[in-house]
Amino acid sequence: MTNDEIRMTNEFRETKAKRHLGFVIHSSFVIRISSLALLLASCDKPAALPQQRPVRVHLTCDVNGRIEPCGCFTGQFGGLSRTQTVLMAEGKPTLRVDAGDSIGGAEDYHVIQFKHVLQAFKSLGFHAVNLGRREAALDVETLRKVAADSPVPLVSANVVDARTQEPMARPWVQATVDGVRYGIVGVVDPKSVGETDLGAGVELLDPASAITKHLPEAKKDVDVLVLLTFAREERMKELAAQFFEFQLILGGDVRQPSQELLRANRSYILATTNQSRALGFFQAALKPDGTLEQPKQEIIFMADDIPQDEGIIAHAEAYRAEVRTTKLAIDDPQRTRDDAVPGVRVAARYVGSEACAACHAEDYAIWQKSAHSMAFPALQRRESEADPSCIGCHTIGFGTESGYRREFAGKRLTQVGCESCHGPGSTHVEQRNAQRTQGREPGFKFRPLAAADCVTCHHGEFSRPFEWEEFWKLIAHGKKK
Ligand code: HEC
Ligand code: HEC
Ligand code: HEC
Ligand code: HEC
Repeated sequence: MTNDEIRMTNEFRETKAKRHLGFVIHSSFVIRISSLALLLASCDKPAALPQQRPVRVHLTCDVNGRIEPCGCFTGQFGGLSRTQTVLMAEGKPTLRVDAGDSIGGAEDYHVIQFKHVLQAFKSLGFHAVNLGRREAALDVETLRKVAADSPVPLVSANVVDARTQEPMARPWVQATVDGVRYGIVGVVDPKSVGETDLGAGVELLDPASAITKHLPEAKKDVDVLVLLTFAREERMKELAAQFFEFQLILGGDVRQPSQELLRANRSYILATTNQSRALGFFQAALKPDGTLEQPKQEIIFMADDIPQDEGIIAHAEAYRAEVRTTKLAIDDPQRTRDDAVPGVRVAARYVGSEACAACHAEDYAIWQKSAHSMAFPALQRRESEADPSCIGCHTIGFGTESGYRREFAGKRLTQVGCESCHGPGSTHVEQRNAQRTQGREPGFKFRPLAAADCVTCHHGEFSRPFEWEEFWKLIAHGKKK
């Protein structure tokens, strides 16, 4: 055998994916093993490591709290529940890392949800979860607690306590997968985080200095050094130029997942994003000198025919059960009194769609037949009617003082009502009544609406692509129908 080429087609992965998922993950990879290596392996120790070892990595970024997809329309792609199905079909061990922004926001319910996201990451077999822009928006106490309780290591070398300069998470972690030892350092780029978006008591150090500080420890006894970066592509390239040590730089703060594998200095750069809809995959053969050969990247898009994993769905259910019984800041009407400025007339309040029916009978009848009048039961069917991350678009005025509150338990101000679009109507109702009974001219006018007002709810994963012409005709009312 001279210069043989041993082709290892990743058959298992392909057939499994085809059989169970009805979709194909195309991948075949080739490892060259020199005849010398084979000879050595066969006559010396049969179980010796081959000269080249497989590096395989799965990457997520911008999971945004999506343990499972929201279910707003049937073209749903996202959810760690689907990621798990793909990872199970993969069959082989991979390094599994998240580059940041896996939390949904900085509200108390996002923090509760994040706990369950991290549990889900644990079930997914993740090795490290990096702090991104949204995690850096948590206040120092919350972040410290979340990091301490996390079942998966949270990493970040440059998100620190502003007072003590101590890292809020682990600056780096090491993990061994399939005989390959990985060192993983995490950073978030300050250019990806607005000054005002930073959590109270949290500070961001310059990523390069933070990396320099922790690199000697992180790279000790590892085969592959990975930088998890929540950063834009140009910044990832800059870091690659500054540090030759990283074989892999994984991110990031990008608008769409990497179309191709980038190479900068000695690093391969791969980025993904998209609210857990896109899973990044990297594989290569690790040479004894530490270089990666035959690198290959792939972005696996979650399609809605990928079944959701029951075990991960259980984490979403656990979140819903917890948030349902937890008192939240948004439940407190005092906190949401943003319109109550002392000495200023209180702005209009929400009164509910029924208050409009008497004078706008025709519009009301049209609305009642539309999907908008059934938006709350849709949440109830998914047991999400107590989940603040859903309620906003399926009720009237949630998060404002006079709007829907969870304590109403579905009894009033539910659905996408008249005022979800037109705004609070108390002043209008009072003035139009006064007009009718006393002939007084109303001073208040609702502002005119347009497509932009629909897109506040009809966007992203929450809606099929919004087309005014198509959507408006299904709910047309008023003068312009
Ligand atoms: C940003 C606004 C927004 C948020 C937040 C939101 N939804 Fe929706 N939801 C929509 C819109 C818009 C539609 C209609 C989509 C379409 O028809 O294309 C919808 C539709 C739905 C439907 C389908 C309704 C039916 O009758 O079949 C369900 C179920 C649903 N949402 C559940 C949820 C759940 C659960 C959450 C929280 C995890 C959530 N929504 C959060 C805007 C939102
Ligand atoms: C007492 C009767 C009455 C009630 C109750 C009432 N309206 Fe009206 N509304 C009118 C009249 C009269 C007009 C002016 C003529 C027209 O456009 O139909 C009007 C006009 C409007 C307009 C056009 C813009 C404007 O400000 O004139 C909108 C939008 C509207 N109403 C929405 C609502 C909504 C939403 C509610 C419930 C919160 C509501 N109305 C309740 C009588 C009423
Ligand atoms: C407050 C959030 C919100 C706003 C604003 C909003 N929608 Fe919706 N819309 C929803 C939700 C939620 C649903 C799904 C209701 C259901 O099916 O249970 C929906 C469903 C629809 C549907 C039904 C789609 C279907 O499957 O048949 C149409 C059409 C629609 N919206 C049009 C509009 C238009 C036009 C506007 C702007 C004038 C608009 N929406 C503004 C939340 C909103
Ligand atoms: C999904 C958003 C949405 C909902 C829900 C909705 N409207 Fe409208 N409404 C619009 C839009 C958009 C227009 C047309 C643009 C405009 O006139 O501002 C309109 C127009 C109107 C008009 C005519 C405005 C004028 O200038 O004469 C009235 C009256 C009205 N709506 C009343 C209602 C009432 C009453 C309800 C509830 C029964 C309701 N609307 C529910 C979005 C909505």
